[in-house]
Amino acid sequence: MSDSTIDRVWPEPADDLDDAALLAQTAFPAGRVWLRANFVASVDGAATRGGLSGGLGDAADRRLFGLLRRPADVVLVGAGTLRDERYEGLRVDDASVAWRRDAGMPPHPVLATVSRELDLDPASAVFADAPVRPIVYTVASAPAARRTALEEVADVVVIGEEDADPARLRDDLAVRGLRRIHSEGGPHLFGSLLAAGAVDALHITLAPTVERGQADRIAQGVAVPTRARLASVLRAGDELLLHYLL
Ligand SMILES: NC(=O)c1ccc[n+]([C@@H]2O[C@H](COP(=O)([O-])OP(=O)(O)OC[C@H]3O[C@@H](n4cnc5c(N)ncnc54)[C@H](OP(=O)(O)O)[C@@H]3O)[C@@H](O)[C@H]2O)c1
Repeated sequence: MSDSTIDRVWPEPADDLDDAALLAQTAFPAGRVWLRANFVASVDGAATRGGLSGGLGDAADRRLFGLLRRPADVVLVGAGTLRDERYEGLRVDDASVAWRRDAGMPPHPVLATVSRELDLDPASAVFADAPVRPIVYTVASAPAARRTALEEVADVVVIGEEDADPARLRDDLAVRGLRRIHSEGGPHLFGSLLAAGAVDALHITLAPTVERGQADRIAQGVAVPTRARLASVLRAGDELLLHYLL
């Protein structure tokens, strides 16, 4: 078994799924706006190690992370994650570009972010090296000068007064024809989306490690319990890759 071998445990057990099987397993539903989120967490709920998520995932998690991006029209990332994880221009790999071309899609998804403060550098690689003009969702109270600077490199869209409104975010993406929405976090954005009932599905990798300590969980903000229904269970060695419908 290679490090990135992924088996299906449930509903129908199957060994060593290839990329096509994983894509079929995780496909967006046809013809509707669908927002799904992808996270990795330790078995005791830590969403970070040393302040970043990268230390938690292994090769199988990275493989699924890439495949989940592949069919997305838009990759949605909170501004905190964009800064902390040092996102660059969003590009999918060559296999994904070929797959997207065959599916009649543009080579790369659009990157969309959400920010109140707009503390985002227009000269940073996430904008300067973007293959597609990114979208920055913000609020009316955002600093005007930062907004003007970002308008040079991105579509800046106001979707609320103090808080970005997830329903308006979904609507604006749908109007742009970006219906397959794939969110890569982070916890505050996910908390806002959950509170608004704006998340359709969650892909969460349960990393086989107990982290202890004070690391954030995958959802922050006001507690709003959200019931999740299990859609599938994948397994890579000791790691579980779970798909829930919310
Ligand atoms: N385990 C995982 O899978 C995973 C995934 C992603 C991230 N992470 C980790 O999460 C940490 C970052 O956490 P985070 O909670 O700061 O990330 P985040 O949710 O990506 O970013 C939070 C920021 O997004 C903006 N934002 C979120 N909701 C908003 C709303 N309703 N209206 C307006 N703006 C909104 C604000 O931006 P401004 O501050 O610009 O106003 C806010 O400070 C990093 O350590 C990262 O490694 C882990």
